[in-house]
Amino acid sequence: MSNLKPIGVFDSGIGGLTVVKRLAAMLTNENIIYFGDTARVPYGSKSNQTVIEYSIQDTNFLLSKDVKAVVVACNTASSVAIADLQNEFEIPIIGMIEPGAEMAIGKTNNKKIGVIGTRSTINNKAYSGKIKSIDPTIKVYEQACPLFVPLAEEGWTNHKAASEIAKEYLKELHELDIDTLVLGCTHYPILSDVIQKVMGPNVTLIDSGIASAEVVKNELKKNNLESDSPEKGICEFFVSDIPTTFKSVAELFLGKQIHDVHKVDLETLWQD
Ligand code: DGL
Repeated sequence: MSNLKPIGVFDSGIGGLTVVKRLAAMLTNENIIYFGDTARVPYGSKSNQTVIEYSIQDTNFLLSKDVKAVVVACNTASSVAIADLQNEFEIPIIGMIEPGAEMAIGKTNNKKIGVIGTRSTINNKAYSGKIKSIDPTIKVYEQACPLFVPLAEEGWTNHKAASEIAKEYLKELHELDIDTLVLGCTHYPILSDVIQKVMGPNVTLIDSGIASAEVVKNELKKNNLESDSPEKGICEFFVSDIPTTFKSVAELFLGKQIHDVHKVDLETLWQD
């Protein structure tokens, strides 16, 4: 019966919804439990140790909901905590970095890949390290874009402030003749129109959510955990704080109404 359990997904905020969207489209009969750590967003400017602690707590919360696998729908957490999570927990734990890196390698023709992400993901060289370990001949150029996270959380997807900030952050990458750009933060696909406009039509944007959904599918199959339910899956949302914008931005992004957003009490849930 374990295959009827939900898949757990976590992020620091709403960014992981970009992954939920891909999972729900690909694994239509799977139930999903989403946890957004909105009380402690952003993760991208915090120390590795703090992000590891939060990631373990987030995973424990999802396990309290009896999930069969956990998707770390946060590149920051994936880049610093994936090994700890995979060591600590017995269920499949899927991160963003490897699938996104592999997808980018598969897309580039001129072997020049750009990566944008949080300060943490960029400083930890999560993507450049992974890409170069697979193909050392590829040139990787990285740029932290920390202001994209609050813009996405605000739902300012097409706001002129987003466009100005994107022009500033992407100026150098734009001049480097890259043909592929990894959106190395799950919040960034929310701003993909603006980013694509600045980079131009010849640059392929890589959404790690698409790449990781494929990996989740394979992992479930490999571990005999696929749902055999004939029903369409449902998604339940939990957050550590309910920002006024969560529901509207989530609905805008998922393209459908969401009903209940539950608040998780940090103190009681995250005591060992
Ligand atoms: N969405 C997250 C990521 O993919 C984290 C953003 C943040 O909390 O700084 O890195």
